[in-house]
This record gives sequence, structure tokens and C-alpha cells, in this order.
Amino acid sequence: MGRTRRSYYSALKRITKVANSALSLRRICNSVAKSTAKAMQANGCRILSLNPQKEYLITVGAYGLSDLYLKKGPLEARKSLPDILEGKVVFIADAAKDERVQHPQIALAQGISSLLGVPVLGKGEAIGEIRIYTREPHQFSEADKSFLLSVADICAVVFERAELHQLLEQGYKANERRRKSSQVSPLPTTLKPTSFAHPSEEDFAGLLDFYCIEWLYEPRSFPLRWEGDKIAEMFTPDFYLPELDLYVELTTLKQNLLTEKNRKLRQLRELYPEVNIRLLNKNDFLKLLAKYGYGPLGEAKVEGIDRVLYSHAKIQRRIRTLARRISRDYAGQRLMLIGILKGVVCFMADLMQHLSLPVTLDFMAISYYGGDGQVVKITRDLDSSITGQHVLMVEDIVDTGMTLNYILSHLSAHNPASLRVCTLLDKRARRLINVPLDYVGFEVPDEFVVGYGLDYKGEYRNLPFIGILHPELIKDEEVR
Ligand code: IMP
Repeated sequence: MGRTRRSYYSALKRITKVANSALSLRRICNSVAKSTAKAMQANGCRILSLNPQKEYLITVGAYGLSDLYLKKGPLEARKSLPDILEGKVVFIADAAKDERVQHPQIALAQGISSLLGVPVLGKGEAIGEIRIYTREPHQFSEADKSFLLSVADICAVVFERAELHQLLEQGYKANERRRKSSQVSPLPTTLKPTSFAHPSEEDFAGLLDFYCIEWLYEPRSFPLRWEGDKIAEMFTPDFYLPELDLYVELTTLKQNLLTEKNRKLRQLRELYPEVNIRLLNKNDFLKLLAKYGYGPLGEAKVEGIDRVLYSHAKIQRRIRTLARRISRDYAGQRLMLIGILKGVVCFMADLMQHLSLPVTLDFMAISYYGGDGQVVKITRDLDSSITGQHVLMVEDIVDTGMTLNYILSHLSAHNPASLRVCTLLDKRARRLINVPLDYVGFEVPDEFVVGYGLDYKGEYRNLPFIGILHPELIKDEEVR
């Protein structure tokens, strides 16, 4: 493997040129990985980026490694060769036998023998790694190590430039302002390769970014079936949301493929019972997007209601029961009711009339995904302070839980004496974030509901009942 200074010099020239090009992060890193592996006459190279919380490493560029190896799961920074992230150069002579290797059986299947890893250091701190792999057992020379460290320095500049670009794109300033006022954690700034297999995946990633929910794209493949020692079938969910420990698979393909996906998912759940995975089919996903005015459902012209789900009388009966429970739980205390405009107006008006407590009232307004902001934005904040108050957050409907999760973290930063949630409707089947709900009116089916304050594109709020939109209003046959 010994290489002359000259070959390393020309490789560095190529790498520097591509690093300074206008290509995407993934393409730059793939090209750097290829030039590096070739210059070192190695069989594979992988460039990894460390997330800001320094919890896991994601692949941003690779050469010569199979999908199986690359998608063997998010590498946990604590477990996967932690010495590299402490700034050390790590050499592994036999990857299949070395305890430091996180997935030795996969390394074995790949025929990987030796590994050389160096840190990518930005301002003295590890922000990533480069790993070089060889099939034959190999000893690396000082010149090899020094070359790889120079490539790592170039990668550091590439990462920092890409991160800057990403931050600018995500409306960093808006996020900073919000973070300072509400103590909500900053936007995820892990470098993410942005070539999605399908445009809907990009839309979904945008939606998650909007809610400041960190995500990884296709981070892990789950072997489902083996033939002898070989893996014969695998399943790679589209997204992993580390904060929620949730995998999300989007099924925007033809619905007849859904059966196959469901089969794989069942198998995955059997083999990996600890894995939390949700399947969002096209219908789910379009409904989610439609809520924010996106996608084909968002463009549908709404004309009517399919059926009434809860009559006015039934809603009123349920509200009286809820109000009795709340009045009992807060007996002897003052209660501050907070609602988010505008969907909650009917429910709030009826609920407060049945509370036998001294009550004050305040409202907030927020902009949803698709507005001019990049993230949830409070467009109208509370008039009064909630510090030291018993606060009851009153909601019309909790769907994915993302809005409520955001609002609760905003409110709790102001130190209320207590903070609970009362929602008229709970669309539990579609929950992505587990938010605590203290008082629930009805658990609704997974349908788009309108009326009694809830709208579709601004209409139907004035209906005295809650109904389901007519399916014929949905243009696209496939999504029904
Ligand atoms: P979440 O953040 O996904 O929980 O969404 C909550 C908000 O989405 C609610 O406050 C509603 O404004 C809206 N929403 C969710 N599902 C429906 C529905 O079925 N009909 C009308 N609006 C809905």
C-alpha cells in the first residue's frame, strides 16, 4: 500500500478542487471518499458527520462499501470507536474480531479486515470522522496517516461551509430569536445528505424541520430474512426521529404495494420488538400535508360534509362532563385557560361557561407550516403572565401532537404553578409525539374532521356539529 508523496500530492489536489466546488455535500463527500480510497489503494472509505449533541454519526459520503454496510444503523458515538472522536487516530487490524467494532458480523460479511479512522476536527473539536477499510489485513504507514489527516482537515472546512449554508437556509435567525424567548432547543444542525429518493420524503423532512424535530434519512436497514449466513431480505425505513425514538415509513407508492410493506413491517416488529415504527400511507401523509395547505388534498375544492360524527347535543353533554371533572380537580383554585386561535373558539366558549371556578382567559396564535416562517411561529403571544398560575391549555384537536408539544415547551419555560391539557378531540391514531392529555372529549377516527371551530381551508368553522369531509371532495382516487 505504500504510496509515494507524489500520488498523495495529486490526490490532495483533486480533493481540494472538489471540496471547493459548488456540488452538494453528499457529492463532495462521495468524491473525496473515492479519491482518498484510491490514493491509499484501500477498498472503501466512509466520511461521517457527528450530530451537535455528539450522540451519533451519520454517513455523508462513502466509496466502495455496500448499502448493507452503510445502513447498518446510526452509529452511536459512545460505542463506535469513541477514541476517534477524542481526537485519536485508531487502527484496527481485524474488524471482525475487534471488540471496538459495533457490528462485527456485518464487517465480516463485507470482507473488511483492517480499518484506519481519523477525526475530522473543527476548531479543535471532533465534528466527524473518516474511516478507511481494506479487505486484506494491512498495516498503515505514518505517511498514510498523515495523508488521511490532511483529507480530514479539508473535510472539516467542507462540513463547516455546508453547515453554514444549511443554517442560512433554515432561517437560523428566526430560530435564534425564538429560542432566546422560549428556551426551545435550536434547530437541528446535523449535516444531512439531501438527496431523497422521492419528493414526498423531502416534503416530510421539511415538515419535521418546521417543528424542530430532528430526523435521519434512511439511517438503518433491518435484515428480515436469511439464507444461510447471507441476508436475503432487508427493510430500510425512510426516517428515524431520534428524539422520539421513532422510525417512519412513508408509503407514497401505489396502494397495492402497501400490502407488501405491511407484511415487512409485521415481520420487522416480530424480529425487533423494541423498534418503534409508524407507517404513513399516502392518505395519511397527504392529509398531514393538506392540513398545512400542501399536496393534492390541499388543492381539493371542499363542498360538503360526508357525515356527522358528533351532534351538537352530544358535544354539549361531553363538555359538561369534562367541566365537572375540571371544576372538581381545581376546587379552591383560580384557573387560567389558554387557547390557540382560531379552532378552539367554540370549545373554549362552551367549556368555560360550565366551570364553577374563578377563571381567566388568554389566547395565542401561531403560524403553521407553509406560512412565511420556516418553523412554528407564535404570531400572537399571551397578554398576561402565567408565572405561578394554574394553567389549563385548551385544544380543539390533537393530531400528531407536534403543535401542542411546541406550545407546552414554550409555556413551561414561563414557570406556571401547574400546566395541564384539555382537548375536545384526540386523533390518537396519528400521534407522532406523545404529549400528556389530562382531559379528552372524544377519541376521533383517523379522518379529517371539520365544524364546531375546526376548519378546512378556513371554511366550516361555524357548523354546530363535528363532521367528516365528503370523500368525493378528494380529487385523487388513490388517496381514498
Ligand atoms: P398537530 O400539531 O398535528 O397535533 O395538529 C393540531 C392542529 O392541526 C389542530 O389544532 C388543528 O388546527 C389542526 N388539525 C388537525 N387535525 C385536524 C382535522 O381533522 N380537522 C381540522 N383541523 C385539524
